Amino acid sequence: GKGLFTYDPGFVSTAATESAITYIDGAAGVLLHRGYPIDQLAEKSDYLETCYLLLHGELPDAEQKETFVSTIKNHTMVHEQLSHFFNGFRRDAHPMAVMCGVVGALSAFYHDSLDIHDEHSRMVSAHRLIAKMPTLAAMVYKYSIGQPFMYPRNDLSYAENFLHMMFNTPCEEKKVSPVLAKAMDRIFLLHADHEQNASTSTVRLAGSTGANPFACIASGIAALWGPAHGGANEAVLNMLNEIGDESNIDKFVAKAKDKEDPFRLMGFGHRVYKNFDPRAKVMKQTCDEVLAELGMEDDPLLKIAMKLEKIATEDEYFIKRGLYPNVDFYSGIILKAIGIPTEMFTVIFATGRTPGWIAHWNEMISGNYRIGRPRQLYTGYAKRDYPG
Ligand code: SDX
Repeated sequence: GKGLFTYDPGFVSTAATESAITYIDGAAGVLLHRGYPIDQLAEKSDYLETCYLLLHGELPDAEQKETFVSTIKNHTMVHEQLSHFFNGFRRDAHPMAVMCGVVGALSAFYHDSLDIHDEHSRMVSAHRLIAKMPTLAAMVYKYSIGQPFMYPRNDLSYAENFLHMMFNTPCEEKKVSPVLAKAMDRIFLLHADHEQNASTSTVRLAGSTGANPFACIASGIAALWGPAHGGANEAVLNMLNEIGDESNIDKFVAKAKDKEDPFRLMGFGHRVYKNFDPRAKVMKQTCDEVLAELGMEDDPLLKIAMKLEKIATEDEYFIKRGLYPNVDFYSGIILKAIGIPTEMFTVIFATGRTPGWIAHWNEMISGNYRIGRPRQLYTGYAKRDYPG
């Protein structure tokens, strides 16, 4: 047999599992950020306020919020030299490939905030990352379509500024639709943190070695890219397009049950939730609001998604396995309605998730941590001598 599995208690004490930031109850479909339910934050808070909450543990008062927002605005530009970094990439590179590269490159510029044992330096890095991710994400998109980079504008809110940098050009600066800006802010908020998922655990493990925060976030972006994780939002849209018509749904659902076929129903299932992902519910509500505001209620992809959700959630195979829509199932439909191209979806997820990654990294580094060292279950040869 596999023998007795032993583990090194030292590993558990590296705070790789202890955290006070986010609580998830997978069976009940509950998600709390510092105790506040995600649906209440989505309705009453906004993205930057939630970033502050994740980082500092409490909601900011009016003065703290104003200071935080202006601090973030002061960091939205990236070093001008960084824009030359893009020229080494092919224009048709996957946006996540470029994002991994340019976020990692931040380590080559911001030497004055790399001292991880100095709290002020950690906060400067946190503010720089939260502020610069939208700027870099928009630069990744502009580079892919051959348009010039747009500078951030400090007279705009966080989400408005992102959409400005994504869709405006030096020739024409259109006013950003408040409806789309609100939907974008909600999307960022719903992705802000999610306890110790694969990419957050990657950031914590990288951080436990003493690597600088920019390198740690770049490692989180790499882990998020996989279709089983953050890459699922792009995969959901590709799947809905492949289904193409409601009449094909049954065939897809049948395929998803076929053990031989690695195909899975993208946007369904979760490592922890065996109930509805509470973010999916809020995402569906936002989807309805945005499409109604845009007069796109009859969006064919939304119709396929809703029919797919109905069929799958009434199907014994899915019910028995606790497979429900997750955060990625509806987000792509909103992003598409906003005008974000499918291959940029996971870059949006990475941008939204940055405060969560940084909050976990900061929580660990400011506590008593040890280097992470996951142990294995050895199934190889016992000792043997070299022949001869
Ligand atoms: C995210 O961890 C997080 O918090 C992640 C995240 C975050 O915010 O950071 O929430 C973001 O990554 C959401 C998940 C996005 N991924 C997808 O939508 C891809 C499709 N989903 C699957 O790849 C899968 O559901 C996972 C990867 C999400 C979870 O994989 P698990 O934990 O291995 O799934 P499971 O143990 O619940 O599976 C139970 C059964 C298995 O069948 P049996 O062996 O019991 O017969 O359900 C099957 C699985 O094969 N199954 C699916 C399925 N997901 C699981 N069958 C069909 N379609 C699916 N989507």
